Amino acid sequence: MEYAIRTENLVKKYSNNFTALNGVSLRIKKGEVVGYVGPNGAGKTTTIKILTGLSRPSSGHAYVNDIDVVARPREALRTIGALIEVPGVYDYLTPREMLTYFGRVYRMSGDEIDRRIKESLELVKLSDWEHKKIGTFSTGMLRRLTIAKAILHKPDNLILDEPVLGLDPKGIRDVRELIRQFRNQGMTVFLSSHLLGEVAEVCNTVIFLNKGKVVSSDSVQNIDRSMEQRVVNVRFLKPLSVEETKRLRAIELIKSVEVEDSVARLQYDGKPESSVQILRRLVSSNFEVVSYNVESAGLEDYYVSVMGDEKKEG
Ligand SMILES: Nc1ncnc2c1ncn2[C@@H]1O[C@H](COP(=O)(O)OP(=O)(O)OP(=O)(O)O)[C@@H](O)[C@H]1O
Ligand SMILES: [Mg+2]
Repeated sequence: MEYAIRTENLVKKYSNNFTALNGVSLRIKKGEVVGYVGPNGAGKTTTIKILTGLSRPSSGHAYVNDIDVVARPREALRTIGALIEVPGVYDYLTPREMLTYFGRVYRMSGDEIDRRIKESLELVKLSDWEHKKIGTFSTGMLRRLTIAKAILHKPDNLILDEPVLGLDPKGIRDVRELIRQFRNQGMTVFLSSHLLGEVAEVCNTVIFLNKGKVVSSDSVQNIDRSMEQRVVNVRFLKPLSVEETKRLRAIELIKSVEVEDSVARLQYDGKPESSVQILRRLVSSNFEVVSYNVESAGLEDYYVSVMGDEKKEG
Protein backbone atom coordinates (compact mmCIF):
# COMPACT_ATOMS: atom_id res chain seq x y z
CA MET A 1 0.00 0.00 0.00
CA GLU A 2 1.31 3.37 -0.96
CA TYR A 3 0.65 6.02 1.66
CA ALA A 4 0.52 9.77 1.07
CA ILE A 5 2.34 10.24 4.37
CA ARG A 6 4.04 7.61 6.47
CA THR A 7 6.36 7.92 9.40
CA GLU A 8 8.09 5.18 11.35
CA ASN A 9 8.96 5.84 14.94
CA LEU A 10 10.02 9.45 14.43
CA VAL A 11 12.15 10.83 17.23
CA LYS A 12 13.33 14.41 17.39
CA LYS A 13 15.67 15.57 20.11
CA TYR A 14 16.68 19.21 19.95
CA SER A 15 20.22 20.25 20.76
CA ASN A 16 19.21 21.18 24.32
CA ASN A 17 18.35 17.47 24.68
CA PHE A 18 14.63 18.19 24.72
CA THR A 19 12.64 15.36 23.13
CA ALA A 20 9.98 17.00 20.94
CA LEU A 21 8.93 13.77 19.19
CA ASN A 22 9.06 10.50 21.01
CA GLY A 23 8.30 7.76 18.50
CA VAL A 24 5.61 9.03 16.14
CA SER A 25 4.29 6.60 13.54
CA LEU A 26 1.70 7.90 11.11
CA ARG A 27 -0.14 6.26 8.20
CA ILE A 28 -2.11 8.58 5.98
CA LYS A 29 -3.80 7.18 2.91
CA LYS A 30 -4.13 9.05 -0.36
CA GLY A 31 -7.19 11.25 -0.49
CA GLU A 32 -7.59 11.42 3.28
CA VAL A 33 -8.05 14.74 5.03
CA VAL A 34 -6.42 14.40 8.41
CA GLY A 35 -6.28 16.77 11.34
CA TYR A 36 -3.17 16.67 13.52
CA VAL A 37 -4.32 18.05 16.82
CA GLY A 38 -2.52 18.77 20.04
CA PRO A 39 -1.75 21.48 22.58
CA ASN A 40 1.06 24.02 22.24
CA GLY A 41 4.39 22.26 22.25
CA ALA A 42 2.95 18.82 21.38
CA GLY A 43 5.30 18.47 18.41
CA LYS A 44 3.00 19.29 15.49
CA THR A 45 5.28 21.81 13.80
CA THR A 46 8.29 19.60 14.46
CA THR A 47 6.58 16.72 12.63
CA ILE A 48 5.63 18.97 9.72
CA LYS A 49 9.15 20.40 9.49
CA ILE A 50 10.52 16.88 9.17
CA LEU A 51 7.93 15.95 6.52
CA THR A 52 8.83 19.03 4.51
CA GLY A 53 12.59 18.67 4.79
CA LEU A 54 13.13 21.67 7.06
CA SER A 55 14.37 19.54 9.93
CA ARG A 56 15.98 16.13 10.26
CA PRO A 57 14.71 13.44 12.57
CA SER A 58 17.09 12.21 15.28
CA SER A 59 15.92 8.71 14.40
CA GLY A 60 13.10 7.05 12.55
CA HIS A 61 11.86 7.57 8.99
CA ALA A 62 9.45 9.80 7.14
CA TYR A 63 8.03 9.26 3.67
CA VAL A 64 5.77 11.33 1.45
CA ASN A 65 4.25 9.41 -1.47
CA ASP A 66 6.69 6.63 -0.50
CA ILE A 67 9.73 8.85 -0.99
CA ASP A 68 12.13 9.08 1.94
CA VAL A 69 12.28 12.77 2.86
CA VAL A 70 15.76 12.50 4.36
CA ALA A 71 17.34 10.42 1.59
CA ARG A 72 15.60 12.11 -1.36
CA PRO A 73 14.46 15.53 -0.12
CA ARG A 74 14.17 17.31 -3.50
CA GLU A 75 12.12 14.55 -5.05
CA ALA A 76 9.94 14.32 -1.96
CA LEU A 77 9.31 18.07 -1.88
CA ARG A 78 8.20 18.13 -5.48
CA THR A 79 5.23 15.87 -4.62
CA ILE A 80 3.90 17.96 -1.75
CA GLY A 81 2.69 21.46 -1.10
CA ALA A 82 3.38 22.95 2.30
CA LEU A 83 2.18 25.85 4.38
CA ILE A 84 4.59 26.82 7.11
CA GLU A 85 4.53 30.47 7.95
CA VAL A 86 7.76 32.37 7.31
CA PRO A 87 6.68 35.90 8.15
CA GLY A 88 7.59 39.07 6.38
CA VAL A 89 10.29 38.06 3.93
CA TYR A 90 8.29 38.68 0.74
CA ASP A 91 6.91 42.09 1.71
CA TYR A 92 8.59 43.96 -1.12
CA LEU A 93 7.51 41.48 -3.83
CA THR A 94 4.20 41.07 -5.62
CA PRO A 95 2.39 37.69 -5.71
CA ARG A 96 3.45 37.32 -9.36
CA GLU A 97 7.11 37.87 -8.46
CA MET A 98 7.03 35.61 -5.45
CA LEU A 99 5.20 32.79 -7.25
CA THR A 100 7.46 33.09 -10.30
CA TYR A 101 10.42 32.58 -8.00
CA PHE A 102 8.88 29.42 -6.52
CA GLY A 103 7.86 28.16 -9.95
CA ARG A 104 11.52 28.34 -10.96
CA VAL A 105 12.54 26.52 -7.79
CA TYR A 106 10.16 23.75 -8.88
CA ARG A 107 11.70 23.91 -12.37
CA MET A 108 8.40 24.68 -14.04
CA SER A 109 8.50 26.14 -17.55
CA GLY A 110 7.73 29.83 -18.12
CA ASP A 111 4.35 29.03 -19.69
CA GLU A 112 3.45 26.65 -16.91
CA ILE A 113 4.43 29.20 -14.27
CA ASP A 114 2.28 31.77 -15.99
CA ARG A 115 -0.72 29.51 -16.21
CA ARG A 116 -0.43 28.16 -12.68
CA ILE A 117 -0.03 31.62 -11.15
CA LYS A 118 -3.30 32.64 -12.78
CA GLU A 119 -5.08 29.45 -11.68
CA SER A 120 -3.75 29.48 -8.13
CA LEU A 121 -4.47 33.16 -7.51
CA GLU A 122 -7.92 32.71 -8.96
CA LEU A 123 -8.62 29.81 -6.62
CA VAL A 124 -7.59 31.76 -3.51
CA LYS A 125 -9.41 34.87 -4.79
CA LEU A 126 -6.35 37.07 -5.13
CA SER A 127 -6.41 37.62 -8.91
CA ASP A 128 -6.90 41.36 -8.45
CA TRP A 129 -3.80 41.54 -6.26
CA GLU A 130 -1.36 39.83 -8.61
CA HIS A 131 0.75 42.96 -9.04
CA LYS A 132 0.34 44.61 -5.61
CA LYS A 133 3.08 44.57 -2.98
CA ILE A 134 2.65 41.71 -0.50
CA GLY A 135 3.62 44.05 2.34
CA THR A 136 0.18 45.67 2.11
CA PHE A 137 -1.76 42.39 2.48
CA SER A 138 -4.00 41.53 5.44
CA THR A 139 -3.36 38.37 7.49
CA GLY A 140 -6.16 36.57 5.65
CA MET A 141 -4.80 37.55 2.23
CA LEU A 142 -1.28 36.49 3.21
CA ARG A 143 -2.57 33.11 4.32
CA ARG A 144 -4.42 32.65 1.02
CA LEU A 145 -1.31 33.66 -0.88
CA THR A 146 0.73 31.08 1.05
CA ILE A 147 -1.86 28.48 0.06
CA ALA A 148 -1.56 29.58 -3.59
CA LYS A 149 2.19 29.05 -3.24
CA ALA A 150 1.63 25.59 -1.75
CA ILE A 151 -0.49 24.43 -4.70
CA LEU A 152 1.48 26.20 -7.46
CA HIS A 153 3.18 23.03 -8.72
CA LYS A 154 -0.08 21.04 -8.50
CA PRO A 155 0.92 18.64 -5.73
CA ASP A 156 -1.62 16.00 -4.69
CA ASN A 157 -0.49 16.10 -1.08
CA LEU A 158 -0.87 19.22 1.05
CA ILE A 159 0.74 19.67 4.46
CA LEU A 160 -0.54 22.71 6.33
CA ASP A 161 0.72 23.91 9.70
CA GLU A 162 -2.05 25.79 11.55
CA PRO A 163 -3.75 27.09 8.41
CA VAL A 164 -6.35 29.15 10.30
CA LEU A 165 -4.19 30.44 13.14
CA GLY A 166 -4.76 34.15 13.72
CA LEU A 167 -7.52 34.51 11.13
CA ASP A 168 -10.86 36.21 11.74
CA PRO A 169 -14.11 34.26 11.23
CA LYS A 170 -14.33 35.26 7.56
CA GLY A 171 -10.70 34.26 7.01
CA ILE A 172 -11.30 30.94 8.74
CA ARG A 173 -14.32 30.31 6.53
CA ASP A 174 -12.31 31.10 3.37
CA VAL A 175 -9.53 28.67 4.28
CA ARG A 176 -12.03 26.01 5.31
CA GLU A 177 -13.75 26.40 1.96
CA LEU A 178 -10.42 25.99 0.14
CA ILE A 179 -9.62 22.84 2.08
CA ARG A 180 -13.03 21.44 1.16
CA GLN A 181 -12.28 22.14 -2.49
CA PHE A 182 -8.95 20.34 -2.21
CA ARG A 183 -10.69 17.41 -0.55
CA ASN A 184 -13.27 17.25 -3.33
CA GLN A 185 -10.47 17.17 -5.90
CA GLY A 186 -9.14 14.05 -4.19
CA MET A 187 -6.06 15.69 -2.70
CA THR A 188 -4.54 14.44 0.52
CA VAL A 189 -4.53 17.12 3.21
CA PHE A 190 -2.64 16.87 6.49
CA LEU A 191 -3.26 19.89 8.67
CA SER A 192 -2.27 20.75 12.19
CA SER A 193 -4.32 22.74 14.65
CA HIS A 194 -4.79 23.08 18.36
CA LEU A 195 -8.53 23.49 17.77
CA LEU A 196 -10.38 20.20 17.46
CA GLY A 197 -13.56 22.02 16.44
CA GLU A 198 -11.85 23.62 13.49
CA VAL A 199 -10.39 20.34 12.34
CA ALA A 200 -13.66 18.44 12.75
CA GLU A 201 -15.27 20.81 10.22
CA VAL A 202 -13.10 19.68 7.32
CA CYS A 203 -11.30 16.45 8.22
CA ASN A 204 -12.27 12.78 8.02
CA THR A 205 -9.79 11.68 10.63
CA VAL A 206 -8.16 13.26 13.65
CA ILE A 207 -4.81 12.25 15.10
CA PHE A 208 -4.15 13.52 18.61
CA LEU A 209 -0.61 14.33 19.60
CA ASN A 210 0.58 15.12 23.11
CA LYS A 211 4.12 15.50 24.41
CA GLY A 212 5.62 14.05 21.26
CA LYS A 213 3.41 10.96 21.18
CA VAL A 214 0.26 10.00 19.31
CA VAL A 215 -2.32 9.51 22.05
CA SER A 216 -5.35 8.72 19.92
CA SER A 217 -6.60 8.60 16.38
CA ASP A 218 -10.19 8.39 15.30
CA SER A 219 -12.62 9.25 12.52
CA VAL A 220 -14.59 12.46 12.96
CA GLN A 221 -17.72 10.34 12.63
CA ASN A 222 -16.77 8.30 15.69
CA ILE A 223 -15.86 11.42 17.63
CA ASP A 224 -19.26 12.91 16.84
CA ARG A 225 -20.97 9.73 17.91
CA SER A 226 -19.16 9.56 21.22
CA MET A 227 -20.35 13.06 22.08
CA GLU A 228 -24.02 12.38 21.67
CA GLN A 229 -24.73 13.40 25.22
CA ARG A 230 -25.37 17.12 24.89
CA VAL A 231 -26.45 20.01 27.03
CA VAL A 232 -28.90 22.80 26.48
CA ASN A 233 -28.91 25.95 28.60
CA VAL A 234 -32.29 27.56 29.14
CA ARG A 235 -32.83 30.98 30.66
CA PHE A 236 -36.28 31.65 32.09
CA LEU A 237 -37.93 34.99 32.80
CA LYS A 238 -37.96 34.37 36.56
CA PRO A 239 -36.15 32.01 38.93
CA LEU A 240 -37.79 28.59 38.87
CA SER A 241 -39.94 27.48 41.77
CA VAL A 242 -39.53 24.03 43.30
CA GLU A 243 -42.69 22.94 41.60
CA GLU A 244 -41.48 24.19 38.21
CA THR A 245 -38.15 22.43 38.63
CA LYS A 246 -40.06 19.23 39.31
CA ARG A 247 -42.10 19.68 36.16
CA LEU A 248 -38.90 20.27 34.24
CA ARG A 249 -37.42 17.01 35.52
CA ALA A 250 -40.57 15.20 34.44
CA ILE A 251 -40.01 15.90 30.75
CA GLU A 252 -38.91 12.47 29.52
CA LEU A 253 -36.36 13.61 26.92
CA ILE A 254 -34.39 15.40 29.61
CA LYS A 255 -31.88 13.15 31.32
CA SER A 256 -30.76 15.48 34.06
CA VAL A 257 -31.43 19.01 35.27
CA GLU A 258 -29.30 21.52 37.11
CA VAL A 259 -31.04 24.72 38.12
CA GLU A 260 -29.50 27.94 39.30
CA ASP A 261 -31.90 30.85 39.74
CA SER A 262 -33.45 31.45 36.36
CA VAL A 263 -31.04 29.27 34.39
CA ALA A 264 -31.36 25.52 33.84
CA ARG A 265 -28.79 23.18 32.34
CA LEU A 266 -30.50 20.23 30.72
CA GLN A 267 -28.83 17.07 29.49
CA TYR A 268 -30.40 15.22 26.59
CA ASP A 269 -29.35 12.79 23.87
CA GLY A 270 -28.00 15.51 21.60
CA LYS A 271 -30.33 14.78 18.68
CA PRO A 272 -31.67 17.91 16.98
CA GLU A 273 -35.21 16.43 16.98
CA SER A 274 -35.01 16.00 20.75
CA SER A 275 -33.94 19.59 21.17
CA VAL A 276 -37.01 20.71 19.21
CA GLN A 277 -39.28 18.47 21.30
CA ILE A 278 -37.89 19.79 24.57
CA LEU A 279 -38.40 23.39 23.55
CA ARG A 280 -41.97 22.58 22.45
CA ARG A 281 -42.71 20.95 25.81
CA LEU A 282 -41.31 23.92 27.70
CA VAL A 283 -43.45 26.37 25.80
CA SER A 284 -46.61 24.28 25.92
CA SER A 285 -46.16 23.86 29.70
CA ASN A 286 -46.11 27.64 30.04
CA PHE A 287 -42.47 28.00 30.96
CA GLU A 288 -41.36 31.54 30.15
CA VAL A 289 -38.30 30.84 28.02
CA VAL A 290 -36.03 33.83 27.40
CA SER A 291 -33.24 31.96 25.64
CA TYR A 292 -32.49 28.39 24.62
CA ASN A 293 -28.94 27.44 23.67
CA VAL A 294 -27.51 24.07 22.78
CA GLU A 295 -24.03 24.00 24.24
CA SER A 296 -21.28 23.24 21.76
CA ALA A 297 -18.62 22.40 24.32
CA GLY A 298 -18.74 18.73 23.38
CA LEU A 299 -15.59 18.86 21.30
CA GLU A 300 -13.73 20.59 24.11
CA ASP A 301 -14.79 17.84 26.48
CA TYR A 302 -13.65 15.25 24.00
CA TYR A 303 -10.30 16.98 23.63
CA VAL A 304 -9.78 17.03 27.38
CA SER A 305 -10.76 13.37 27.68
CA VAL A 306 -8.19 12.39 25.06
CA MET A 307 -5.39 14.71 26.11
CA GLY A 308 -5.84 14.62 29.83
CA ASP A 309 -6.62 17.94 31.46
CA GLU A 310 -3.47 19.69 30.30
CA LYS A 311 -4.80 22.32 27.97
CA LYS A 312 -4.31 24.94 30.65
CA GLU A 313 -0.54 24.40 30.68
CA GLY A 314 0.07 25.86 27.23
N1 LIG B 1 14.76 24.59 17.76
C1 LIG B 1 14.31 24.13 18.92
N2 LIG B 1 15.13 23.93 19.97
C2 LIG B 1 14.68 23.45 21.14
N3 LIG B 1 13.42 23.10 21.39
C3 LIG B 1 12.53 23.29 20.39
C4 LIG B 1 12.92 23.81 19.11
N4 LIG B 1 11.83 23.86 18.32
C5 LIG B 1 10.80 23.42 19.07
N5 LIG B 1 11.22 23.07 20.31
C6 LIG B 1 10.39 22.51 21.39
O1 LIG B 1 9.79 21.32 20.94
C7 LIG B 1 8.45 21.21 21.44
C8 LIG B 1 7.52 20.98 20.28
O2 LIG B 1 7.47 22.14 19.50
P1 LIG B 1 6.53 22.28 18.24
O3 LIG B 1 6.76 23.61 17.66
O4 LIG B 1 6.70 21.10 17.36
O5 LIG B 1 5.09 22.19 18.92
P2 LIG B 1 3.66 22.48 18.29
O6 LIG B 1 2.83 21.27 18.57
O7 LIG B 1 3.79 22.92 16.89
O8 LIG B 1 3.13 23.65 19.21
P3 LIG B 1 2.28 24.96 18.84
O9 LIG B 1 0.84 24.57 18.97
O10 LIG B 1 2.67 25.92 19.90
O11 LIG B 1 2.65 25.41 17.48
C9 LIG B 1 8.18 22.50 22.20
O12 LIG B 1 8.31 22.23 23.58
C10 LIG B 1 9.24 23.44 21.72
O13 LIG B 1 9.60 24.34 22.75
MG1 LIG C 1 3.30 24.63 15.88
